[in-house]
Amino acid sequence: YLIFQNANLIHSVDLNNLQILENKTVLVNQDTGIIEKICNHIDEISDQSCINNAKFYQLKSTQFLMPGLVDTHCHAPQFFFTGTGLDLPLLEWLDKYTFPCESKFSDLNFAKKVYEKSVKSHLYCGTTTICFFGTIHLEATKLLVDIIEKSGMRGYVGKVCMDRNSPDWYREETQKSLEDTKNFIDYVLSKQNPILKPVVTPRFAPTCSSQLMLSLAEISESHNIPVQTHLSENVNEVKWVKELFSSESYTAVYDTHGLLNDRTVLAHCIHLEDDELDLIKKRGAGISHCPTSNTSLQSGIMPTRKYLNKGLKIGLGTDVAGGFTPSIIHVIRECIGVSKLYRSFVKSDEEPIGLSEAFYLATIGGAQLLGLEEKIGNFSEGKEFDALLIDFSNIIHKNDDHHEPNFSDDHSLREIFEKFIYLGDDRNIKEIYVKGLRIL
Ligand code: GUN
Ligand code: FE
Repeated sequence: YLIFQNANLIHSVDLNNLQILENKTVLVNQDTGIIEKICNHIDEISDQSCINNAKFYQLKSTQFLMPGLVDTHCHAPQFFFTGTGLDLPLLEWLDKYTFPCESKFSDLNFAKKVYEKSVKSHLYCGTTTICFFGTIHLEATKLLVDIIEKSGMRGYVGKVCMDRNSPDWYREETQKSLEDTKNFIDYVLSKQNPILKPVVTPRFAPTCSSQLMLSLAEISESHNIPVQTHLSENVNEVKWVKELFSSESYTAVYDTHGLLNDRTVLAHCIHLEDDELDLIKKRGAGISHCPTSNTSLQSGIMPTRKYLNKGLKIGLGTDVAGGFTPSIIHVIRECIGVSKLYRSFVKSDEEPIGLSEAFYLATIGGAQLLGLEEKIGNFSEGKEFDALLIDFSNIIHKNDDHHEPNFSDDHSLREIFEKFIYLGDDRNIKEIYVKGLRIL
């Protein structure tokens, strides 16, 4: 057992309810990873034997615990060029930067080097659950899974599938793509690690034949495996898909190929018509909102408020390297920022997204999108303990000798949390826990 004392806890209860609990005692079972009790006093823990066998941890008044962050859409190989090549829109960007980079992952030494750094870059930013695209290469994507497993993060990983409309040096044969996908799924499942999951990953409709998508849908159904892909990111992409499939809508293309279900994660979803939203809702699929990427690749602004009002599942994604940062906290800022621009320039009656709401999307929203809402996302008793220990002393005070920093002198914990979201960074993250175990 692990017992935190004097713990300040900050988490979302629902979309509009950021709960701040001060000075609590938290009991975590390290065998199961489960939060067994959150209470005011250790006396309230009735089982003496777990107290006797517990490791005690006194938190400081300049610290709080928050749930680990969930990154619902990201490309592990693209870490290699993140922060560069952001001068082009999507389709040109794929051709000039992305496909050449990803094609190099046939080289396992290169893959190992990049993937180790890539996984760490997300972990250090406080991401405890991540949903990754790899490349088309089976062996390199297996290696990515091994590296995530070693890190202790929760990982959803897909071997990318694409059998047309890309250069011949970065394209698969349809049958090979399907075979490798099955082998990849078997490999991940054979680990029997409850925090690792394979994901069926058709890259996006333009690079996938009908045959490939139909067969991938079958694999997803028969193994009950999630699906991830891109949808309606860029206006030229949308136009191209409608032409390629002679379809009225981009969303309908995935639906008619059997890829829309309650396990599907759809990245971007910027330019959707109302009937597409209805279809997504009806199928129970969810949306990964990637605002840093959408700004960088000039893709547009996703109407988040409208989608929330529709009751769609929404999580946040960094979409490295379309998005330049591995930090979901930065994505929270961008989510709020672009929603304000949307109101200023697009739709004046649409309320921007508030900080509590964006934080909800980064934690519970992401958990829902990945089917983990029963397990993670906040500190409810019975959920698994995925947490960040944040120290905010450097944000509120210059640490001079005369003044022991004490947040309650100047700021409420709510204000400190807001400051952390806007001004904080990885230096404030002192410890990281996944399923009750410390991983950093
Ligand atoms: N659409 C198809 N592939 C990609 C990709 O790698 N990144 C982004 N942002 N969109 C895509
Ligand atoms: Fe992407």
